[in-house]
Amino acid sequence: RTVYVNGDYLPETEAKVSIFDRGFLMADAVYEVTSVLGGKLIDFEGHALRLNRSLSELDMAAPCSKEALLEIHRKLVELNGIEEGLVYLQVTRGSDGDRDFLFPGEETQPTLVLFTQNKPGLADSPASKTGIKIISIEDVRWGRRDIKTTQLLYPSMGKMMAKKAGADDAWMVEDGHVTEGTSNNAYFVKDGVIVTRPLSTEILHGITRKAVLRMAEEAQLKIEERLFTIDEAKAADEAFCTSASAFVMPIVEIDGVMLGDGAPGPIAKRLREIYLEESI
Ligand code: PDD
Repeated sequence: RTVYVNGDYLPETEAKVSIFDRGFLMADAVYEVTSVLGGKLIDFEGHALRLNRSLSELDMAAPCSKEALLEIHRKLVELNGIEEGLVYLQVTRGSDGDRDFLFPGEETQPTLVLFTQNKPGLADSPASKTGIKIISIEDVRWGRRDIKTTQLLYPSMGKMMAKKAGADDAWMVEDGHVTEGTSNNAYFVKDGVIVTRPLSTEILHGITRKAVLRMAEEAQLKIEERLFTIDEAKAADEAFCTSASAFVMPIVEIDGVMLGDGAPGPIAKRLREIYLEESI
């Protein structure tokens, strides 16, 4: 694989970042994951805008212009021959050569790293045909989930808890209400109405969420953005989640409770089709 580090395109084995980098020592870093379908970047603009928002919320300098970022994305997709897959981007606050809680001065350059993940068949994955099973877990993350930081230990633990329980993923619950999935936004459908949590600092403002809600509206589907409980989701006709890597993923079981007839629901299936059709 050819990867990108601070201006250079290198074989992955030659790419280096300082051990004092604040991304490594303190998760002082933000990231984006952009999908590639048919060799094309999906929703680059949205990801670039959210990256800038994450950076400014953390007083972190932008490593380069949006145009330069697009160029790096395109070049990596081309160099690695990606038809279907992901581009991962991370910006850290960099390093001034020691460990310190205080942010380094302005002379310290941010670190910019990008790499691709080749995932042939991503749009046609077996999970999207059968739907996935999820469990619910408590949401114990920090309070600024609208900033896409690399603090992913708890989401990783959540996926491990799901795996141990024989499920595929977990939805997180705070104060009795579902926030989001470990790496996706959460929805259920009851009597033809799509319900999802409204945007706030409690959840990531998903780029796929925005696109899918727009498409649902255009398809004249009813949408309610409101808080909801895991019990409401368990009693739903269907459920699904959205992200750049899962697109629209049907959910067929929550905490061992089967939804509907246990097959992906019609609205989730339709939204996945529309999303993929419009994106490619
Ligand atoms: N995760 N919520 C969380 C906590 C996420 O980590 C993600 C994305 C989303 C969906 O956002 P988007 O539609 O912009 O991908 C929601 C990425 C894919 C990841 O961590 O791999």
